[in-house]
Amino acid sequence: MRAFLLFLLIGILAFCLTACTTKQQESDQSRTEEDTLLLGFSQLGSESGWRIGNSKSIQDAAEKAGIQLMFDNAEQKQEKQIKALRSFIAYKVDVIAFSPIVEDGWDNVLAEAKSAGIPVLLVDRYIRTEDDSLYAGHVGSDFMEEGRKAGQYLMEKTAGMDKVKIVEITGTEDSTPMRHRSEGFREILANSERYTILQSISGDFLRSKGWECMVTLLNEYKDIDVLYSHNDQMTYGAIEAIEAVNLKPGVDIVIISVDGEQAAIDLLKEGKINCVVECTPLLGEEVIQLALRMKRNETIPRYNYSEERMFTEFDDDLDRIGPRSY
Ligand code: AHR
Repeated sequence: MRAFLLFLLIGILAFCLTACTTKQQESDQSRTEEDTLLLGFSQLGSESGWRIGNSKSIQDAAEKAGIQLMFDNAEQKQEKQIKALRSFIAYKVDVIAFSPIVEDGWDNVLAEAKSAGIPVLLVDRYIRTEDDSLYAGHVGSDFMEEGRKAGQYLMEKTAGMDKVKIVEITGTEDSTPMRHRSEGFREILANSERYTILQSISGDFLRSKGWECMVTLLNEYKDIDVLYSHNDQMTYGAIEAIEAVNLKPGVDIVIISVDGEQAAIDLLKEGKINCVVECTPLLGEEVIQLALRMKRNETIPRYNYSEERMFTEFDDDLDRIGPRSY
């Protein structure tokens, strides 16, 4: 009788184990099918700490989610980005995501993706097109708002001044951050006649060009009050040029920068930069979540803006800014 009971117990246990394992396998299988994704991502280059942080964020998030990522770096060339998009189409990836270096010139390749049934997510920057059906949505910063924040800080900083002379070093021509950061800034300054933008030149988001631009501007104008620089890398180059002519950055020339890299926050604390408008590159997790939804044919929100801050010399808690990961 005891032996019979023992056999019965072992039998019941074995049955439960098999049933549970099958159930687990079934659920693993369905989760795998739902959550697997072959994502083609075309990065525009590696021109800044921001961009390197952005690539890392996307690669890390893909690895964490167990997503298969085809990653291509176009090294600042639109032709290379178009080539990468075409290779993603040939590979029949589930979703294409890319950071367009400039706004124009994408219609043909995106129409090819559409015909192949591959949905497209814009990351960081926008494109200009008449056909909104060429992409499902966008994830990244509100660059207009960044420009407005820069303008608002300047209004506060220069409240007591009669005339304010500004130079602007912009990012890559025809890119979204270049256009919108300029537009948002001007929108705020238009409220007062005290502001003159002496000159606006493109530094292509590169440190070396930021230096070149500032050298040109300092040779041209002797009375610059403010530098508005569209990214931290160009700001570092410009600061070098300002110090080379024995002027004090942050004191003789007010400096407004965009991004919020660790080095820029350190310069803000040192008093060499007066204001840093944050633009976060940490988009990886959202890119993956949106891409998974797109693969499931879900409609995603058209615009997915990141939450961003501004750090200025007026903040009394600069020491409490945590370490930046870019
Ligand atoms: O598109 C975002 C911008 O591109 C960042 O401000 C800049 O650093 C990068 O090159």
